[in-house]
Amino acid sequence: MHILLVASAFNSLTQRVLTELQDRGHTAGVVLALGDDEALREAVRQHAPALIVAPMLTTAIPEDIWRAHTCLIVHPGPPGDRGPSSLDWTLQAGAESWGVTVLEAVAEMDAGDVWAWSPLKVPPLAGKSDLYRGEVADAAVDAVLQAVERFGSGRYKPKRQKAADLAAGWRPFLKQAQRRIDWATDSTDTVLRQLRAADSQPGVLDELLGAPWHLHGGHPEDELRGAPGELLATRDGAICRATVDGAVWIAQLRPPGLCASSFKLPATEALGARLPDSVPEVPAPLDLPASRRTWREIRYSERGPVGVLNFSFAGGAMSTAQCRRLLDAYRFACARPTSVLVLGGLRDFFSNGIHLNVIEAAADPAEESWANIYAMNDLVEAVLTTTDRLTVAALGGNAAAGGVMLALAADEVWCRDGVVLNPHYRLMGLHGSEYWTYSLPRRVGVEEAERLTQSALPVSAKRAVALGLAQRVLQAAPEELGDEVERLAAQLAALPDLAARIAQKQEARARDEAIKPLQAYRDEELAHMRRNFFEAGEPYPALRSAFVRKHKALHTPPHLAALGLPR
Ligand code: COA
Repeated sequence: MHILLVASAFNSLTQRVLTELQDRGHTAGVVLALGDDEALREAVRQHAPALIVAPMLTTAIPEDIWRAHTCLIVHPGPPGDRGPSSLDWTLQAGAESWGVTVLEAVAEMDAGDVWAWSPLKVPPLAGKSDLYRGEVADAAVDAVLQAVERFGSGRYKPKRQKAADLAAGWRPFLKQAQRRIDWATDSTDTVLRQLRAADSQPGVLDELLGAPWHLHGGHPEDELRGAPGELLATRDGAICRATVDGAVWIAQLRPPGLCASSFKLPATEALGARLPDSVPEVPAPLDLPASRRTWREIRYSERGPVGVLNFSFAGGAMSTAQCRRLLDAYRFACARPTSVLVLGGLRDFFSNGIHLNVIEAAADPAEESWANIYAMNDLVEAVLTTTDRLTVAALGGNAAAGGVMLALAADEVWCRDGVVLNPHYRLMGLHGSEYWTYSLPRRVGVEEAERLTQSALPVSAKRAVALGLAQRVLQAAPEELGDEVERLAAQLAALPDLAARIAQKQEARARDEAIKPLQAYRDEELAHMRRNFFEAGEPYPALRSAFVRKHKALHTPPHLAALGLPR
């Protein structure tokens, strides 16, 4: 079937739906709905689709389009639920189960006939965006595929929604006034629910050290205590704030309004000189017991011959400091007597490369870009040159740009089913580094490496395996990924030919090094990156600025507009 995807942005869910449809032999086009109805009509004329699907749409489809074509809308709520802030209301209310519905576009929002729906379990501590990219995306794909099949059968009659249910199900946009935290009375659970329902956007508007801020990210803390609202500690850029019955960690802050500096930063960096010296930095050990309820980005655990280095960075972005901390942890893990070392293994983003927000906020963004790519390269190099054990990158969520190349540095790449990879840098105006000129062609061949980096399109986990980018697709729910990864890593460590595989790996690395040293790849890549970062006229600074400030695209980018159309 030829399907046209209409979306407000080419976001993670739209990318996921696109790749899942392609995996099943459908062809698909993409048009962004950016307020220009004529452009939308033109795309519909060009594609003449059998079906239109809107995975993430914040505006209405024009009536002439939905009258002439079946248009299916993905709504992140079960049948009967309606409105623009479904997930926010649900997380605020502390619901344990939820759903995603695919319904037909009609004049009234979320009031069309239901083609399919899929239930989901809400995990205990995930924020809204994490939930959206995990359980919601899984349920959405399930429902979309069901709906596409039903539509294709030509026999299915979608279910009408009753007028009384429609009236009862409507919930309005959730405003900041309804997200407010009252530090003097709200319990830790309430505070966490408010923060989770607003994470990663729009955050909870609050006051801190005499200034207004949007608070982003919320994690419980089980030991630190203080007067409600008090700033108790910092850790790796996050701040810990007391509640009436405990404390919570807040990872990022954003100044309110539309000023040039209104983008998210690690909390301590955003506060800068406002942060009193009296607030202590409270580190947490790498091998923090699993029973502790606190926040940390990097954690190491070990079971027999398997070491697991979990890491989770907000938005998958890795600043210079975060890369260095992960490299230190990686070195610690390499000093342990294990034969298999797993990197990642958590739900949500694996990595999206260098931290564009921290770079944008730096006094000299070009210099900071340089420092960040250096730190990222040092980390990738450490993985590439680990020859005394097998390494596995376990991706519970998506990866892009340098984040994909970090995964490719490991011996094996395992992706949770539903993971989307974006192995390219072009859309950020960068040549890219992280030894991609070594890792990518080695896995997929020179021609495919060129196609992947130039087409700048997303790749599903299944296709990644078919291409040789990844070795395994893991069938596990986001919350079950960690256990599944440990189980498979233990199997790998128990293989009778493990020692032989490690020996082969050593030989292959030595052979490759003799042909062309890793340093040569790094030097060549960095020569390009130096130009991208420092030379006048390069597109990277403007693209980075638009990205961190979330400027809306003006039209569907050409590489998407051409998708699914005859050449
Ligand atoms: N630096 C800083 N923040 C980043 C980031 C990066 N490299 N990559 C992603 N993020 C943030 C986004 O700003 C967004 O923040 P929000 O939650 O406050 O809105 C969040 O992570 C999720 O990203 P989003 O773009 O909404 O998710 P997506 O799944 O729709 O798209 C990507 C994912 C990776 C395709 C897209 O974020 C992207 O292109 N990132 C830049 C990748 C890059 O060029 N890296 C640098 C080169 S190494």
